[in-house]
Amino acid sequence: MEKQELRTFGRRHGKKLSARQTMLIDRILPTISPTNLPANTGKILEIGFGAGEHLREIARQNPGKIIIGAEPFMNGVASLLSAITNESNTVRDEYKNIRIFADDVRDFLRQTDSQFEQIWILHPDPWPKARHEKRRLLNADFLKTLIKYLAQNGEIIIGTDHWEYFDWICAQSVAANLKYYTPDIETIQTRYQKKNKAGTESPRYLIIKH
Ligand SMILES: C[S@@+](CC[C@H](N)C(=O)[O-])C[C@H]1O[C@@H](n2cnc3c(N)ncnc32)[C@H](O)[C@@H]1O
Repeated sequence: MEKQELRTFGRRHGKKLSARQTMLIDRILPTISPTNLPANTGKILEIGFGAGEHLREIARQNPGKIIIGAEPFMNGVASLLSAITNESNTVRDEYKNIRIFADDVRDFLRQTDSQFEQIWILHPDPWPKARHEKRRLLNADFLKTLIKYLAQNGEIIIGTDHWEYFDWICAQSVAANLKYYTPDIETIQTRYQKKNKAGTESPRYLIIKH
């Protein structure tokens, strides 16, 4: 991957953060960065976690694993930090396995040699206008990169309610020579899914494996 990649996300900053959120970004975020990860612990990655509802869910479901989330939208990161900390501004016990990379996942991948049991991407930005299609994260090149970080028997799980993007990702998987299937699964409703901007009946999922 080259450094001059197109941005795949919109804004990094939205409405002004509260004083508490700013304090959590300054004080807590640096203490839960995904560095020096232990080699012998299972790891799960979520890309573009938004406000982190699903990330928190998998953190609770997998207390023995490290859950890494990558998200460049700082208001989303701040929402997650608020949700995982208590009144004394320390990380709640059930979320101590969370690590956050508050930027482009492609920068995180360049600096890690970790392998992941699961890689989740829920509601990736669909960039529906034809002239923006190049900004779609889940293109064949990125999928080929991502699979290198997938542990043996691991799964890349992608869900989107934008059915045109879904078909496009399936086509990109074929172009990347990757095996995938399209199961009926259910995940918790994330904030973006609730908005259902695509206006479809439900999200569709695909799972890529080695
Ligand atoms: C449409 S939102 C969905 C957020 C969340 N998954 C949900 O379902 O509510 C897509 C998210 O992906 C993030 N994103 C886009 N490109 C990314 C990248 N290269 N690395 C990490 N996150 C990215 C965006 O900042 C945005 O928060």
